Amino acid sequence: MHLKKRIAIFASGSGSNAQKIMEHFKKHNEAEVALVLTNNPDAYVLQRADNFEIPTHIFDRYEFYKTESVVNLLKSLEVDLIVLAGFLWLVPENLLKAFPNKIINIHPALLPKYGGKGMYGDFVHNAVLANKEEESGITIHFVNEHFDEGEVIHQAKFRIEDGDDLEMIKFKGQQLEHQYYPKVIEQLLKKMKTI
Ligand code: GAR
Repeated sequence: MHLKKRIAIFASGSGSNAQKIMEHFKKHNEAEVALVLTNNPDAYVLQRADNFEIPTHIFDRYEFYKTESVVNLLKSLEVDLIVLAGFLWLVPENLLKAFPNKIINIHPALLPKYGGKGMYGDFVHNAVLANKEEESGITIHFVNEHFDEGEVIHQAKFRIEDGDDLEMIKFKGQQLEHQYYPKVIEQLLKKMKTI
């Protein structure tokens, strides 16, 4: 048993959410980020993890979908919670089975609206704008075998004002993501009696 509960973050890109999570748990008494994993060798999240001296693991499609190596790595590190933060691949069944109710995701919209395959990043916000929605937001949810479909853990909303463009909507959503994701992770670990 480790003294602190252990979080693994999966990210495919910039990793601004991963950054906030690593900051939040850097000096936390009861939980820590143990590993950052990515499918993208050029992802900026790798640099961010290095800055926190957190180990990283890069995998390819074959390793992720056809072997047990990622599951074995997470098990060997005794990871308690897996956090997807801008991770764009579907989670395979072996990983879901190995970590039941222990994988969560953040999505930049109010699910079940604007979710599903291909709905990520700007595609989400552009669809929200095209439909002239009056509000949007973020959803933190458990992960299952479908994109963006597991049980919702937390949602937060913002208003879309006249004249808000893609950049503004992205900004408003990102502010909420950064505000809530680390806190929701902490609360979830507490509820799971793992803190
Ligand atoms: C976040 O906005 C997250 O909600 C989104 O990717 C972005 C990653 O940003 N995820 C999805 O769209 C998943 N369907 P980041 O790399 O700066 O954290």
